[in-house]
Amino acid sequence: MKINVCTLLLATSLFATPASRATDLPHIAKSAVGGQLIVDGKPFLMLGGELGNSSAGTAAQADTILPCMAQLHVNTVLMPVAWEQLEPVEGQFDTSILDHWIDVAREQHIHLVLLWFGSWKNAFSNYAPAWVKQDTKRFPRAISVDGTDTEILSTLAPETVQADSRAYSHLLAHVRDKDADQQTVLMVQVENEVGYLGRGRDRSAIANKQFEGAVPATLVHQLQERSTALSPELASHFNPRGRSWKEVFGDAADEVFMAWNYASYIEQVTAAGKRAYALPMYVNAQLPAPAERAGEYPSGGPHPYYLEVYRAAAPSIDLYSPDIYWPNFEYWVQRYKRAGNPVFIPEARIESAPFNAFYAYGEAGAFGFCPFGIDSIEVSADHTAARPAIEQTFGALNDLSEMLIPAQAAGKTRGLVLHADSPRATQTVALGGYLFEATLSRSWPAKTLLTDDGAMTIIQSGPDEFLIAGRGLTLSFWRDPDVDERVAGIGMVEEVSRIGGKWAVVRRLNGDQTNQGRNLSLPATQVRIYRVVLYSIDRAMQH
Ligand code: DGJ
Repeated sequence: MKINVCTLLLATSLFATPASRATDLPHIAKSAVGGQLIVDGKPFLMLGGELGNSSAGTAAQADTILPCMAQLHVNTVLMPVAWEQLEPVEGQFDTSILDHWIDVAREQHIHLVLLWFGSWKNAFSNYAPAWVKQDTKRFPRAISVDGTDTEILSTLAPETVQADSRAYSHLLAHVRDKDADQQTVLMVQVENEVGYLGRGRDRSAIANKQFEGAVPATLVHQLQERSTALSPELASHFNPRGRSWKEVFGDAADEVFMAWNYASYIEQVTAAGKRAYALPMYVNAQLPAPAERAGEYPSGGPHPYYLEVYRAAAPSIDLYSPDIYWPNFEYWVQRYKRAGNPVFIPEARIESAPFNAFYAYGEAGAFGFCPFGIDSIEVSADHTAARPAIEQTFGALNDLSEMLIPAQAAGKTRGLVLHADSPRATQTVALGGYLFEATLSRSWPAKTLLTDDGAMTIIQSGPDEFLIAGRGLTLSFWRDPDVDERVAGIGMVEEVSRIGGKWAVVRRLNGDQTNQGRNLSLPATQVRIYRVVLYSIDRAMQH
């Protein structure tokens, strides 16, 4: 039976008590290893999901989508807010769609992150209102290398940045008035995957003039000040003794020039929004596909290469985030895991999200991870039907969140993800004096692969005790030789589950289920949580 269970959930939740008045505004607490999102005075683990681009263009869509999100254990929905719908006529604002989404989100105990699709979305400017798009004199476009107008608003147009800032600031002021007490809205993304598409850079007259002129002294100065933080790509091009963009940034000049101009524009929009309501604000990057050149991917976006250029131009931006659709998920996460930049992944490929989430929260200490197109997942009313993979993953992480959040901050979590085509068949992580060696689960005795994907998050919960959540992996445990030369063994394995808010032991694993005390096998297609107690003995005692 596949009826819309989500509508039923909506009906029952209409009587839910609204959240009580929150004290502080949501904010980012930065640390040397990244940081946390603080909501109502406490660190918040965002189990997020970003909606498809056309999923929040009407108020009524909230009624069907948000109850389904709650069932998937999504606690925060990232939803577009389109400039063209907010300000269809210049100076006239309509917030009715957003207001309804906020109301329904509250009923469902879901938070929102707003995606400000203003001047740019995926490089282009199709979310700008018609009155902006039609008036190329007031709101000029970037010009391509062959001299034609692009579909991309110029970063160097004073009226455009003013209009965008005014609309954005109106949006934030409205959210403040409606939501400052309850804080359903936690953060805002400013623009979306900005950058110039096309060869080189914007070739408008003003851009050409600036490009030939001197690089702003403040940029050169800040890059010098933060020389140890520069990416290898920026450091290898940066020549502070030059004057023009070409002299200072060599072959990277076009891209750095665009990065500076996008960041400077975004700073004005962001600062205007923050003056109205100072929620955390971030920008997201469309990452290069393998072998793509700048301009084939949006050139001048907040890529890890030129983040220090963004930081110099846009101090109001709280964090920089990757949208990860490429297979090398771990590489891109690690490029954004930098001092003062908490890991937050606003968009991730939905097919691999149920696995990559374990890596993001466990290994990278992410405060948020959000599969894109989350509303495309079919939610069934039939409770005996297989639960969607992301529901299982988020369900387990939600159960663990009280332990996961402090463990992340203390560096006591690890995670990994393995695929049948991973470069290595075995991956090992170290935690609490032990090594956790993982392979994909295989059948016995045929030893055929039971699954093509496996992943886990490990939380250290005591000196020799660990909570392991995941699926599809077989684990062996070793003592970490960098810690001592003892020999490790399994003391006890319990499958645990949180039922009605309380932890319960579901099974004690032994015999065949632990390969006679030698391994822990996580089920191939179901997420489970285990409490594992390990022990270590002197090597001498083994004989
Ligand atoms: C990245 C964009 O930011 C999203 O809005 C969406 O267009 C996705 N790509 C995928 O289609």
